[in-house]
Amino acid sequence: MLKVAVLVSGGGTNLQAIINAKIPNVEISLVVSNNPNAYALHRAMEANIEALCISPKQFETRALFHKALLTCLQDHGIELVVLAGYLVNISEEMVRAYKNRIINIHPSLIPSFCGKGYYGLKVHEAALARGVKVTGATVHFVDEGTDTGPIILQKAVEVKEGDTPQRLQRRVMEEAEWIILPKAIAMIANGGI
Ligand code: GRF
Repeated sequence: MLKVAVLVSGGGTNLQAIINAKIPNVEISLVVSNNPNAYALHRAMEANIEALCISPKQFETRALFHKALLTCLQDHGIELVVLAGYLVNISEEMVRAYKNRIINIHPSLIPSFCGKGYYGLKVHEAALARGVKVTGATVHFVDEGTDTGPIILQKAVEVKEGDTPQRLQRRVMEEAEWIILPKAIAMIANGGI
């Protein structure tokens, strides 16, 4: 069994997709949120998964926060870290400790609409402002940069006439994110990468 931790900050629909996928040879051992009010924590508890809040606000320095998060993952024997709507930057120390064992889902076709400042609805606002006809989602390994690591999977999604950022966000989730994130984890767990 590959021991997986899912890091979240908000609603946790991607976490739910991973739970629902019941991926062979994968155990979701832990869910960690920086936000104590994240609905994702509730989803984890409903699925009988250990759920913790580790917030930068609980620590005197950012370095202490990063250390506590890394220690927590290591103490739980975590082998793969999945960033599923996690809005906190990962430390370089964690990237080194989990080299090629941290993945992220981003709601665009990288290298479009990614990097610093592109998160949540901002990604879809930018896609609509540019007038692209196709967008999508990307699962990639996490390196020291922002959305710069090697790409694992991508899936395209059509932009439709009259889309709002919210409607486009929902379609990208339904047609891409919730499909390729569990698939990437399954590939890693079962030797597809
Ligand atoms: C998703 O759009 C994901 O791509 C982005 O943040 C959002 C998280 O949504 N990184 P949820 O918390 O999984 O519902």
